[in-house]
Amino acid sequence: MDVVTSIKELRQRINRAPRPIGLVPTMGALHEGHLSLVRRARADSATVVATIFVNPTQFGPTEDLTRYPRDLEADLKLLEDNGVDVAFCPSTDKVYPQGFATTVEVRGPALPLEGEARPDHFRGVATVVTKLLLMSAPDVAYFGQKDAQQAAVIKQLVADLDIPVHVEVCPTVREPDGLAMSSRNAYLSAEQRAAAPVIFGALSAVQTLYESGELSRQTLERRCREMLEAEPLIEAIDYVAVVDSGSFIQAADLLGVQPVTLVVAARIGGTRLIDNVVLKPEAG
Ligand code: PAJ
Repeated sequence: MDVVTSIKELRQRINRAPRPIGLVPTMGALHEGHLSLVRRARADSATVVATIFVNPTQFGPTEDLTRYPRDLEADLKLLEDNGVDVAFCPSTDKVYPQGFATTVEVRGPALPLEGEARPDHFRGVATVVTKLLLMSAPDVAYFGQKDAQQAAVIKQLVADLDIPVHVEVCPTVREPDGLAMSSRNAYLSAEQRAAAPVIFGALSAVQTLYESGELSRQTLERRCREMLEAEPLIEAIDYVAVVDSGSFIQAADLLGVQPVTLVVAARIGGTRLIDNVVLKPEAG
């Protein structure tokens, strides 16, 4: 595995790399969720590029940029062990040099929910992902369903800017008790960690309710909210919403007609957790 830190080196390495190239962008602190993307890219591609960059522009002023977990050495070993060819780990000034003045702003799916709760977040994500796609010119870029709205925003920008890449969204990897893997789970105390699976429990219960024929958006959202509120360690619920999986508009008419996504953001202590499940109408 080659570890590169400059854009010039990355381009040189990419130019002579066999295609297809698969790209896995990450912020490090790697876990099985990230590694599932790496393994999928490995299975599909001749060359796998993974990036590790804690992107400052996607963190709000009161968010966890400075304490975001970082362990470059352990991450590089995991990437190497999982067959990555090129690890790109730029410093902040390589990505955002002095005088940087351009941002990519997506509307549509970037506006509601996470867009409201974290006002500049998707601008930072869209800008860095556009840059990473242009730097590494992959054939396929891999993202996790865990961050469903982020994946929708990236699909939107790729389509709107005619970037020649296929966006592949891979399933959410969970702990045995259902908690979606996340670098931020490390912030939870033992007691909070024990309570956190209530989120997937609520999502799964609503999925069962939907499958048993409940097609009212309000009823499904209310049931999810009630289950979350029953857990005393859930301090706040930022949102619970059944949305169209592409536009992220709250979907009423689509229930039972096409797949929709039930998304949740909730806080346990100071830690904000997001998760989602897709509600699919029965085949036929
Ligand atoms: P990060 O949170 O490190 O996640 C990197 C990728 O791993 C994202 O596509 C995310 O959806 C995916 N991922 C995280 N947890 C997962 C899980 N439990 N199962 C499956 N996939 C999972 O998302 C980002 O970084 C950044 O916003 C980034 C896209 C790199 C831009 O800075």
